[in-house]
Amino acid sequence: MPDSLEGREVILVGGSGGVGSASTELLAAAGARLIIGYRANESRAREFEKLGSVIKADITRPEDRSKLLDAAPELYGLVIFAGDPARAKSPEELESAMRQSIEVNYLGPILMAREAAGRMKQRGTPGAIVLISTMQAVALFPGSTPYAGAKAALLHTARILAKECRGPANIRVNVISPGVIDAGMAQASIASGKYDRYRDEGIVHRFGAPADVARAVRFFLEPDSYVTGQVLSVDGGLTL
Ligand SMILES: NC(=O)c1ccc[n+]([C@@H]2O[C@H](COP(=O)([O-])OP(=O)(O)OC[C@H]3O[C@@H](n4cnc5c(N)ncnc54)[C@H](OP(=O)(O)O)[C@@H]3O)[C@@H](O)[C@H]2O)c1
Repeated sequence: MPDSLEGREVILVGGSGGVGSASTELLAAAGARLIIGYRANESRAREFEKLGSVIKADITRPEDRSKLLDAAPELYGLVIFAGDPARAKSPEELESAMRQSIEVNYLGPILMAREAAGRMKQRGTPGAIVLISTMQAVALFPGSTPYAGAKAALLHTARILAKECRGPANIRVNVISPGVIDAGMAQASIASGKYDRYRDEGIVHRFGAPADVARAVRFFLEPDSYVTGQVLSVDGGLTL
């Protein structure tokens, strides 16, 4: 199959997280050779050792980004789930939440993506990069300034990278903007009933699942794909 991921090297940053774990499982089932990065939750990450190499790396640190990239000398795919909800519970917390968010939701992922693209270009091999933004970067949700601002910057600069990489290099860069996914950082909010309205009023027919995002990830990674620079909302229609 021309679109087979069999044997392709793919780094999943945050691949053991709530949303990312389904992508790790789907890509492992497709035969990809996986490098799974985590920041702090070692026990959660070690559960994925049977699916690939597990590496502790904080992508806000240049040396950790290099460590991940060095572990994948034939890198084809990079998927970055790393993110921080960056909630400011009071106006006093706003500035520190914004600074933290810029680091984790924007600088780390976009620098990692650019460094990966640089190595792919240098090697002259095609590649596919997938970044994870959020519905909050696409639509306006009051109270989400720290999180949404950095995620919107990620989305925009990912598309600049896509434009820089188009052409013979054939390195594709795409973004997924998930809605309310019943996993990871959204679980507490879902449990609190914060998002019930969307389901009760018939705006979405259900909350999203990590597998919904995984299918979009796999689509963007297809080796013979002709898609780049796109933002795909996986939100059941919530932001329409
Ligand atoms: N859940 C949702 O409804 C939802 C909706 C829209 C967008 N998203 C986005 O989806 C992504 C995954 O979120 P999630 O809900 O799955 O949260 P999560 O369970 O907290 O997963 C985040 C993952 O990223 C890793 N990580 C965090 N900061 C990192 C860093 N600086 N360097 C390397 N890895 C880092 C974490 O490592 P550890 O395991 O070691 O902590 C974890 O594996 C995030 O970008 C989030 O913004 C989620």
